[in-house]
Amino acid sequence: MDKKVVLITGCSSGIGLSLAVRLASDPDKRFKVYATMRNLAKKERLLECVKGLHKDTLDILQMDVTDRQSILYARDRVVEKRVDILVCNAGVGLMGPLEVQSLDSMRRILEVNLLGTIQTIQAFLSDMKAQGQGRILVTGSTGGLHGLPFNEMYCASKFAIEGACESLAVLLQHFNIHVSLIECGPVNTDFLVNLQKVELEDATLQQVDAQTISFYEKYLQHCSSVFQNAAQDTEDIVKVFLDAIQSPSPAFRYFTTSVVPPLTKLKMTEPDGSQYISAMSKIIFSAEDQ
Ligand SMILES: NC(=O)c1ccc[n+]([C@@H]2O[C@H](COP(=O)([O-])OP(=O)(O)OC[C@H]3O[C@@H](n4cnc5c(N)ncnc54)[C@H](OP(=O)(O)O)[C@@H]3O)[C@@H](O)[C@H]2O)c1
Repeated sequence: MDKKVVLITGCSSGIGLSLAVRLASDPDKRFKVYATMRNLAKKERLLECVKGLHKDTLDILQMDVTDRQSILYARDRVVEKRVDILVCNAGVGLMGPLEVQSLDSMRRILEVNLLGTIQTIQAFLSDMKAQGQGRILVTGSTGGLHGLPFNEMYCASKFAIEGACESLAVLLQHFNIHVSLIECGPVNTDFLVNLQKVELEDATLQQVDAQTISFYEKYLQHCSSVFQNAAQDTEDIVKVFLDAIQSPSPAFRYFTTSVVPPLTKLKMTEPDGSQYISAMSKIIFSAEDQ
């Protein structure tokens, strides 16, 4: 049987790297993986993980999702001339009080997380339609389902992806193309290191009022404790990707924990939003500030 051709964005680290390694190491060699990354100088980490054993199941290509030419160039290097499973995973974060975020930083996160994902899908869509089959998997975030203070632009980018993917899914089912979002909570990756974050000692914070800074301090403590105590490993996320890939009729949305996180549920079941806002605020900023 022909191998399924998989192309993954953002494979220099984290979820993308783990997924590429797992699929390229499939014991039954069911996948040919094109692991893409914007900076090929970072490919050693991936190569170390696969230990040179996967010459027939793995290729590494340069792809910057913000650069249409680089997407098209990578697409044209796919030897099989088709992609069965496209994984849009590349993403960046931006954290801090909204008042200090520069227009450039805000543009950048939208360019990577939103437009980068969409223009990657665009580049492969016509061929997938012509093939009459395909899978598009997108690394989503619970931050795309409910808001998180000090992550306005990150959440905006991930919310927008939800809308774009849901809209596409309605149409693409008629082409036998399944769109799925893998909704992750905190995951142990380089994400927090790579994240563009306003530090408490940054001079830019001088323009921000003391109350907001105090809330930001609490948020940073909350965030680090959540990542220390509740972050999943990339292997857990990869299992969920595999479930979606192997399902004959994949769901639109997969959660990476067995139960939908209570706050996510609250957002979905209480549509007027006030209960979610109050619960999230209580959790992060503590009861005495309500
Ligand atoms: N970790 C979490 O807690 C978490 C939670 C929910 C959702 N997610 C989502 O999971 C996805 C993967 O993140 P991760 O946790 O694995 O973090 P990560 O280790 O920082 O990986 C992010 C990947 O995206 C790549 N990337 C960034 N900008 C790019 C661009 N313009 N073109 C191509 N690749 C680009 C990075 O490449 P460079 O090495 O070149 O920067 C890196 O390979 C993201 O979409 C993120 O939003 C993560």
